[in-house]
Amino acid sequence: MSSTLTGAAMVAGVCGAPVKHSMSPVIHNAWIAAAGLDAAYVPFAPAEDRFEAFIEGLRGVAIVGLNVTIPFKERALAAADTASDLARMAGAANLLIFEADGSIRADNTDGPGLLAAIAAQAPGFDVSAAPVVILGAGGAARGAVAALLLAGAPQVRIVNRTLARAEELVAAFGEKTLAADEADLPWLLADAGLVINATSLGLGGGDGPVAPLELTPTDAVVVDMVYKPLRTEFLQRADALGRRTVDGLEMLLRQAVPSFEAFYGQAPPTSVDVRGLALNLLGEA
Ligand code: ATR
Repeated sequence: MSSTLTGAAMVAGVCGAPVKHSMSPVIHNAWIAAAGLDAAYVPFAPAEDRFEAFIEGLRGVAIVGLNVTIPFKERALAAADTASDLARMAGAANLLIFEADGSIRADNTDGPGLLAAIAAQAPGFDVSAAPVVILGAGGAARGAVAALLLAGAPQVRIVNRTLARAEELVAAFGEKTLAADEADLPWLLADAGLVINATSLGLGGGDGPVAPLELTPTDAVVVDMVYKPLRTEFLQRADALGRRTVDGLEMLLRQAVPSFEAFYGQAPPTSVDVRGLALNLLGEA
């Protein structure tokens, strides 16, 4: 890859703290190599209190853009001059584009990544057909709610350990959302088309959220945003019940696609098995 780099290379990257476990450099550089681009994608880990200074310093520099990850997504939105509807609704940006005039544009591809992952692993699923139950009310949940509402979900039911956080999302998103706690799950799940784990439960191999998935309609789709391990306890439970499942790794891979397009002006080559690469990195291959 590095042999193709010239002084005219298009440079993009990912910014997080820490960033060393990010899979984005491997994914984007594999696409760059397969496409034969004069381009690079590099990791940045600014000190947490230097994020704004780092971003400001990149204005008008010939960097095409940055992906932004934990813990900077909210601050990335605030640092930009303009933002897409989705980034504004999500209250966070995972993509910053540095325009030639020195301005910065924020976008959010996490929600579209969720929808694309569902389309890939649960083909034919219609998000507008039935209510969605989302478990969790943090940043990941907020981005998903924004994308689901824009995609036509009739209702998004937000269930969270701390009810006040779910209520904050309802205050932000309005009448097509409702906040509830675990005790309401039986009736909330009974007619749900989609159930999403947007909590951190299950990360590293523990139990996922306590939700009686057996009460969902048999054609409901179950999504887990956690991708370590790939087959979380939550997804295993859904599998055992015969529900279709969508894994967090597919979401991660799908959010990278519009970022690559924004950076390099073309779709990533389909010849690269990025899922295989990511599974290797996760030790799941
Ligand atoms: P992210 O940006 O990834 O969404 P976050 O904002 O810290 O991260 O949100 C984590 C989510 O996981 C929250 O919904 C959190 O519930 P609370 O709002 O009640 O904290 C949820 N979560 C984390 N640990 C949990 C646990 N042990 N039981 C239930 N929910 C948990």
